[in-house]
Amino acid sequence: MAPPVVTIDGPSGSGKGTIARAVARHAGWHLLDSGALYRLTALAGARAGLDPQDVQGHARLAGAMNVTFGSQSDGTERITLDGEDVTSELRSETTGSGASRVAAWPEVREALLARQRAFAQPPGLVADGRDMGTVVFPDAALKIFLTASAEERALRRYKQLKDKGSDVSLPALSREIAERDSRDSTRAVAPLKPAPDAEVIDSTGLSIGQVVDRVLAIGRSRSLWP
Ligand code: DC
Repeated sequence: MAPPVVTIDGPSGSGKGTIARAVARHAGWHLLDSGALYRLTALAGARAGLDPQDVQGHARLAGAMNVTFGSQSDGTERITLDGEDVTSELRSETTGSGASRVAAWPEVREALLARQRAFAQPPGLVADGRDMGTVVFPDAALKIFLTASAEERALRRYKQLKDKGSDVSLPALSREIAERDSRDSTRAVAPLKPAPDAEVIDSTGLSIGQVVDRVLAIGRSRSLWP
């Protein structure tokens, strides 16, 4: 029997990564940060000196790049590309914009499909992204679509990047997030939208703990965890 999958989709800064991590920890399940795969593809392309418009080149890298997902001794994430720790470089807005650009190409999305599905291993998987519930795991046991107002999302991202020591400005970040939202929601393939059977949660004004509790309660009501 296929292991159970919980999908958490939503726009940038909706908190889906944080919520997905907390839910995976609670359930003792695996975690897929699918955005990291798009970010890795953009980064691998830049490092290989690919033309930013080279669709086939990026699709080839998406399928063949050598990446690992793990954690540091203090429990924080550690992602490597060709053996090199690229965790902080992956989180920059430059890499995020590059990811959003390559993510609009069907060839790249197709090349990442098998990689993403391979994360569904016992005892279960929590997957976060844009199309986890609509395309990658259409049979997921629970689909969450997480939203928040654009202002709150920009502010959350700003605090996140500041905490990591990045030199960012809130107006520039708001602009970038708006551009990325529009590109991610209007692209022809796998646009950001809730699956018809998704539970939509608006996290504006809610704490992380409140959102996690809500997701855990829904999962409990479906007997996904105690
Ligand atoms: O979640 P994130 O910010 O790390 O994602 C980076 C970009 O990757 C995002 O702008 C759109 C793209 N993406 C996607 O198209 N599909 C996914 N499942 C995850 C991310």
